[in-house]
Amino acid sequence: MRSRYSRRDFLRTGVTLGAAAIVGRGSESMAAAPQSGATGAKRSGVFRAVSSGNGIRATDKAMELMRKGVDPLDAVIAGVNIVEDDPNDMSVGYGGLPNEDGVVELDASVMYGPTHASGAVAGIRNIKNPSKVAKLVMERTKHCLLVGNGALKFALAHGFPKENLLTEKAHEAWLRWKETMSDKDNWLPEQIKKMPEALQPVMMTHGTINCLALNEAGILAGVTTTSGLSYKLAGRVGDSPIIGAGLYVDNEIGAAGSTGLGEANIRTCASFQVVSFMGQGMSPEQACLKTLERVADKARRWPKSLGLTDDAGRPAFGLNFYALNAKGEFGAATMLGKAGYAVHDGRTNELRDCASLFKG
Ligand code: GLY
Repeated sequence: MRSRYSRRDFLRTGVTLGAAAIVGRGSESMAAAPQSGATGAKRSGVFRAVSSGNGIRATDKAMELMRKGVDPLDAVIAGVNIVEDDPNDMSVGYGGLPNEDGVVELDASVMYGPTHASGAVAGIRNIKNPSKVAKLVMERTKHCLLVGNGALKFALAHGFPKENLLTEKAHEAWLRWKETMSDKDNWLPEQIKKMPEALQPVMMTHGTINCLALNEAGILAGVTTTSGLSYKLAGRVGDSPIIGAGLYVDNEIGAAGSTGLGEANIRTCASFQVVSFMGQGMSPEQACLKTLERVADKARRWPKSLGLTDDAGRPAFGLNFYALNAKGEFGAATMLGKAGYAVHDGRTNELRDCASLFKG
């Protein structure tokens, strides 16, 4: 029998019903925390918060909030907001070092284990807390990533204030960089030796904060936020807002995040790789080290002109991974030399040493 509905009618009805279902959930977001016991998550019975070395305040905050019943995603975002808001941390949010034009452009992503949902913004200007906007992208759009002006418009539409993110200190640092970068242009530096130390030219750096958390109910979540590579080309996007590179969460296995040279990480989908290795049975630390080995192996093939390897073909860039599995085991590793990472294991909040692939 011929259906009374054409395919178009069917699709239209389906869309209407789908929309009604979404509207029917009221203001509850698509990625809102499922009710306790309905997450599909296996109880871990422990609380953990893990962050990069600049995240000791973030792990403290995340733990405090999770213990009060706050969802792990909101807890890690509140944690990294402390660093985003801090004008003295020049690698993240307000006070972050600008691009080569002297403009601060921020990247951030979030990922939520129980729904496997993610959201991110890249190259966003004038918004102090890109991590909060990333969460809104996850909850209030059908997209995963908004960039540049679109990301700014979206944030403004949601009531975020437009702010000047370039602090006097970051502006001075940019000016020194500009003036001392080359002797073949028309910029003349001040007498560098007379400058206060804080205003001496700052080398290119890529700072970031990543924070991962697990609660007793077995919910994993993560966030990564950054001002990216200092003095980057305008529009350059690093790994932090790229799911699978700067952050990845699989609620059944674990979560991983990264700081360091974003380009190395994007080319190797490295956070996804860390989680995959944990899924194969490796400990978080082993998974981080094995992923660094893979990156180092690929780096040998990268063009010498990138300046990312030494004469022996060994990586000459910083890269760190942080990992937390669904049981609450954690670990971290760095490519070169020494680095620390922050861990709150439910009792103590402290900086620990990352394992190193190369001793430096
Ligand atoms: N990992 C931060 C960046 O490279 O942008």
